[in-house]
Amino acid sequence: MSEIVKKPVGITETVLRDAHQSLIATRMTTEQMLPIAEKMDQIGYHSIECWGGATFDASLRFLKEDPWERLRKLKAVIRKTPLQMLFRGQNILGYRPYADDVVEYFVQKSIANGIDIIRIFDCLNDLRNLQAAVKAANKEKGHAQVALSYTLGDAYTLDYWKDIAKRIEDMGANSICIKDMAGLLVPYKATELVSALKEATDLPIQLHTHYTSGVASMTYMKAVEAGCDVIDCAMSPFALGTSQPATEVMVETFKGTAHDTGLNIEALAEIADYFRPIQEDALKTGLLNPKVMGVNIKTLQYQVPGGMLSNLVSQLKEAHQEDKYYAVLEEVPRVRKDFGEPPLVTPSSQIVGTQATLNVLMGERYKMLTKESQALLLGKYGQTVKPVNPDVQKIAIEKTGEQPITCRPADLLEPELSTIEAEMSQYKQQDEDVLTYALFPQVATEFFQYREAQQTKVDAAVADTDNQAYPV
Ligand code: CO
Repeated sequence: MSEIVKKPVGITETVLRDAHQSLIATRMTTEQMLPIAEKMDQIGYHSIECWGGATFDASLRFLKEDPWERLRKLKAVIRKTPLQMLFRGQNILGYRPYADDVVEYFVQKSIANGIDIIRIFDCLNDLRNLQAAVKAANKEKGHAQVALSYTLGDAYTLDYWKDIAKRIEDMGANSICIKDMAGLLVPYKATELVSALKEATDLPIQLHTHYTSGVASMTYMKAVEAGCDVIDCAMSPFALGTSQPATEVMVETFKGTAHDTGLNIEALAEIADYFRPIQEDALKTGLLNPKVMGVNIKTLQYQVPGGMLSNLVSQLKEAHQEDKYYAVLEEVPRVRKDFGEPPLVTPSSQIVGTQATLNVLMGERYKMLTKESQALLLGKYGQTVKPVNPDVQKIAIEKTGEQPITCRPADLLEPELSTIEAEMSQYKQQDEDVLTYALFPQVATEFFQYREAQQTKVDAAVADTDNQAYPV
C-alpha cells in the first residue's frame, strides 16, 4: 500500500466578517462577537477573518461603533489565531482610488491594531492597483495575500490565471486567494484552476467562494484534492445561502483523509451553539431573509454575484420598476462587455449594475452615464482585461472633455493625507480617525459627532454622581 502524504487543509473562519456581511447586511456587533472570541481562538483555525470589506462602513453607519476599537477588542482576546481582513487594493475599504500615502497609512494602522493577514484584491485584476498595499504589508511584516477576482468570460483562460499568479509571486505576495465572490467556480473547473495555479506558482493557494449557486462544498472538495491549501468556511448558523460552506461540514468531510483539518468537532459545536440564537433572532426580526438561504441558480445563469442581484432588486423597487428585473439582468452582461469585461466585485459590480439599470430605465443605452462609469471608461480604475467599447468611451470623453489614461491611476493622485487630516482635525481623538474620515467623510463626521455626544452624556452623568454628595 502506498503511503498517504498528509496535507491537512487549513480553515479560515469567516463568521465574524463575510458570513454576516453576506447574510445579515454586516450587522453583527462587537458585543455579539466578544463572548465567543476566546473559544474561537482555541479551535486551531488557519485564520479568523474579522475585519475589512463592508464591516468598516457598516460599523460606523449602522452600529455606531468605532471599527478600530472592534479590531483592538478582538485582538485582545484572540491571541493565537491570525486575524485577517479584506482590502480593496487602491480603493482600501471605500469606493474610489486613494493616493498611495492613504493606502500605506491604512495598512500600517491595520497591522498595528491587530491584523496579521491582509487579503488584497482589485476589481479589475489590475495588479498595479495592489502594489502599494502589498509593499506596505511587506514593510509592516504583515502577510500580504493577493486575491484574484474570479470571473468567467473569453479573456479568463487558464493561461490568464497562470500568468497573473506568476506576476503576483514576483510582486512579493505571501499567498494567493481565488476570490469567487459570485459562486461561479464549479467543482471540476476548480480542479483545473487549482492545478494550473499550483503549476504556475509555489505560493500557498486559498479558495474563497459563496454557496449562492449551491455547488460550493463540492468545489472545495475538488479544490483541496487538487492541492488547495486553505478554504474559507463559516460556522453552520451563518453558513450556506449567500455565505460560505459550513465549517463543521468541511471538517467532517476531510476527517480521516490525507487532508484532515484536525479540528475538534465538539469544540466547533459549542461555537455553533453560541451563534444559533443570534441567527434565530435575525430571522425573527427580518434581518435575515430566508430567501438568501436557498440555491440561486440565476447567479450561474447571469454570472452576477448574489449581493448585486439584491441591489438591483432594491434599485428597481425604489423606481417602482420591478417588472424590469429580467431586462436589467440581461443588460448586465452587455454593459460588462462594453466596459472591458471586468469581474463583478466592489466597486465594478455597483458601476456595471447601476449603468445597466439606467440603460433599461431610460429606454436608451448610455443616455445617462454615471460618474463612475465615465471614470471606468477613461481608465481611472485601471486597465480592463479587454479594451472598452470605443463608441461608449467616446461618450465619456465628450461628457468629461478628458482623455483616457493608461498609467497606474494612483500615479496621478497627489498625496492627500495631510489635507484630510487638516479637514477633520476638530474631531480627531486617535490617529486612526484620520483614516476613518478619509474613507467615509460624511458617515465618519456623523459618527464623530455621535461619539462626542455620548462622551458628553457620560461626563454629565459622572458630574451628576459627584454632585450627589453624601449628607455629612
Ligand atoms: Co466573499
